Amino acid sequence: MSADKPTILVTGGAGYIGSHAVLALKNAGYGVVILDNLAYGHQDIVEQALQVEFIVGDTSDRTLLDNLFATHKIDAVMHFSAYAYVGESVTDPAKYYRNNVIGTITLLEAMLAADVKKFVFSSTCATYGVPQKIPLTEDHPQNPINPYGATKLMVERILSDFDAAYDFKSVCFRYFNAAGADPNGLLGEDHNPETHLIPLVLFAALGKRDSIAIFGTDYDTPDGTCIRDYIHVNDLASAHILGLEYLLNGGKSDFFNLGNGGGFSVKEVIETARQVTGKEIKAVECDRRPGDPPALVGSSEKAIKTLGWSPEYPDIKNIISHAWQWHQKRHNS
Ligand SMILES: NC(=O)c1ccc[n+]([C@@H]2O[C@H](COP(=O)([O-])OP(=O)(O)OC[C@H]3O[C@@H](n4cnc5c(N)ncnc54)[C@H](O)[C@@H]3O)[C@@H](O)[C@H]2O)c1
Repeated sequence: MSADKPTILVTGGAGYIGSHAVLALKNAGYGVVILDNLAYGHQDIVEQALQVEFIVGDTSDRTLLDNLFATHKIDAVMHFSAYAYVGESVTDPAKYYRNNVIGTITLLEAMLAADVKKFVFSSTCATYGVPQKIPLTEDHPQNPINPYGATKLMVERILSDFDAAYDFKSVCFRYFNAAGADPNGLLGEDHNPETHLIPLVLFAALGKRDSIAIFGTDYDTPDGTCIRDYIHVNDLASAHILGLEYLLNGGKSDFFNLGNGGGFSVKEVIETARQVTGKEIKAVECDRRPGDPPALVGSSEKAIKTLGWSPEYPDIKNIISHAWQWHQKRHNS
């Protein structure tokens, strides 16, 4: 652990995006402590690829948190931990409000008690709901259409009130679709169950599933399939370092979209995956799914201008290549 750079508590650091942020923090010389309850995280990844202090525990455990802050000099918190399955949030909202909202309030109160007042939060484009215009900018109305998005919007509002009342400074990052993997093959995406398009397409390439479903081919888009904004997970991680440094340098609370600025259709993703993997990848055309907007694309100009963020891997081919390298290693070994 570095003696001269601050130490960051990373909740959800054994998960997909959090683990990439931990690696970026470590490479930048920060001290890191991970807190993850392993509901969805991977202990082997932390032990083999990250090798930082790892506390297995829950953000709703106030005693554990008080002990953690008492025994570690934490300068700021990056809060990735949450439940993030949109469909499950509709069928079991209690689970989502309890973990994503109450768990976060418990963490925030423990931070206040320990006088730690800098916080980088994983929010989501799902806080916007159905887009009224594309690309989505940060001033777009926030009307989430599922409990998952609502939990994230609630935390954004709590953070705004905490700033007014307690001078608690936060950066909220509204991610679009995180994708890709560490270019060196150390880390990657391993959700179970997996619901994201790119890993599912690559599972078809690996023979772990027969085909990939295309939900809707008659949207008002150039090829009729839905367009989504895929942002490389390493670019998310680099934005987190910039957001953290912005706060450590006295920046005011703010919120930023993190996306690619462009979008890729379902058919484009599948075709690129065929090129990258050299596999056929069978696609099955199905009806539209209710609630899927034709296009979800964000503008990240604010993060680019304010934080000096410069995404390194905007090309979908790079994103899919890095993911493919990871999935081959993770699932064939
Ligand atoms: N993956 C995406 O495309 C995407 C998009 C927008 C926002 N987000 C947000 O980014 C964050 C990270 O997403 P991810 O894809 O890496 O998910 P993930 O499930 O891989 O990681 C979340 C981690 O948090 C841990 N966790 C959950 N509840 C916890 C608790 N109460 N205490 C301690 N640990 C807990 C899990 O074990 C897991 O390791 C989430 O907050 C998610 O809502 C993700």
